[in-house]
Amino acid sequence: MDETLIMDENRLVTPDTQIGEQHDQSLRPSRLADYVGQQDIKANLEVFIEAAKRRKQALDHVLLSGPPGLGKTTLAYILAHEMGVPLHPTSGPVIERQGDLAAILTNLEPGAILFVDEIHRMNRVVEEVLYSAMEDFKLDIIIGQGPAARTVKLDLAHFTLVGATTRSGLLSTPLRDRFGIPCRLSFYTPEELKIIVMRSAAILEIDITEEAALELAKRSRGTPRIANRLLRRCRDFADLQTSGVITDGLVHESLQRLGVDALGLDQMDRQILDAIINKFDGGPVGLSTLSAAVSEEQDTLEDVYEPYLLLIGFIQRTPRGRIATSNAYEHMGFQVTPNSEQMKLF
Ligand SMILES: Nc1ncnc2c1ncn2[C@@H]1O[C@H](COP(=O)(O)OP(=O)(O)OP(=O)(O)O)[C@@H](O)[C@H]1O
Ligand SMILES: [Mg+2]
Repeated sequence: MDETLIMDENRLVTPDTQIGEQHDQSLRPSRLADYVGQQDIKANLEVFIEAAKRRKQALDHVLLSGPPGLGKTTLAYILAHEMGVPLHPTSGPVIERQGDLAAILTNLEPGAILFVDEIHRMNRVVEEVLYSAMEDFKLDIIIGQGPAARTVKLDLAHFTLVGATTRSGLLSTPLRDRFGIPCRLSFYTPEELKIIVMRSAAILEIDITEEAALELAKRSRGTPRIANRLLRRCRDFADLQTSGVITDGLVHESLQRLGVDALGLDQMDRQILDAIINKFDGGPVGLSTLSAAVSEEQDTLEDVYEPYLLLIGFIQRTPRGRIATSNAYEHMGFQVTPNSEQMKLF
């Protein structure tokens, strides 16, 4: 019995469990100054951190939202580092009962950061515990059952909740409203990604030319995690060559072999575009139909693939479904003008 309990407890506070995250650890900047891009967010956070430190108070609650791999977890750890406080990581779906959350909250040190990843996937009943905890640093817990049950109010240390989500739209309004510092991360420019690639290359002792770094950056879908991943794959190809240096030519060759095209779109991106164009005549096609056509989860389509395709203007969301734009047709090698269905929408 004890063992399961302990295991459970460990799970509640286990950092990012995804494979690869640990791998990323060494590439994660630990200071705000080393965090590339997201200038506005950084500038504001600098002020809020400094002000909180001067007042010797906990930082207000921070909500980090944006597509996967843009640096939400990284930023959470940076906040803890800059504030000089411990960070306790957990994740929304892992906290199953109110009691689990209560246990975590009552164990927090003053000023500590509770990092809740995927906070939009937290159970709504559990979530309610957070309302008074975030606002008044108080916890209402019910002890006992039936007529003997009574409510006990516990005082909590002033902590900072840092929530991360790929879908801030799925957060309940009461929860979203309790974050004093909402930060929406955006995709990175090729220039910013180039800096990240050069930095990662230096840490991993990889030889890469500036042009090659820029080319990699341009083909990373605006996402640091993808840039780092492609850098590692290019290193594999480079290691098998005599010079061992990643050049522009090697990037082209490697990415071609990896199925990453000139715009950084991968096989799934192209499969999605191909399905909308060929199977559904350019759309509009509903998410569930599209998901079945490309055999990919709806959530993954919405979280991972669509944001970038929307950003580069290859698809549009309409009330009746997704449609492919003329840019997408061109990129996929069609010379077709948008179909009549789209004409009506434009
Ligand atoms: N601004 C940045 N500067 C330098 N490196 C970055 C930056 N943002 C992210 N990275 C790198 O990208 C990797 C992925 O970032 P991170 O894990 O923080 O993303 P995430 O937004 O938490 O993703 P997910 O939604 O999948 O949890 C990190 O390991 C880090 O090396
Ligand atoms: Mg993360």
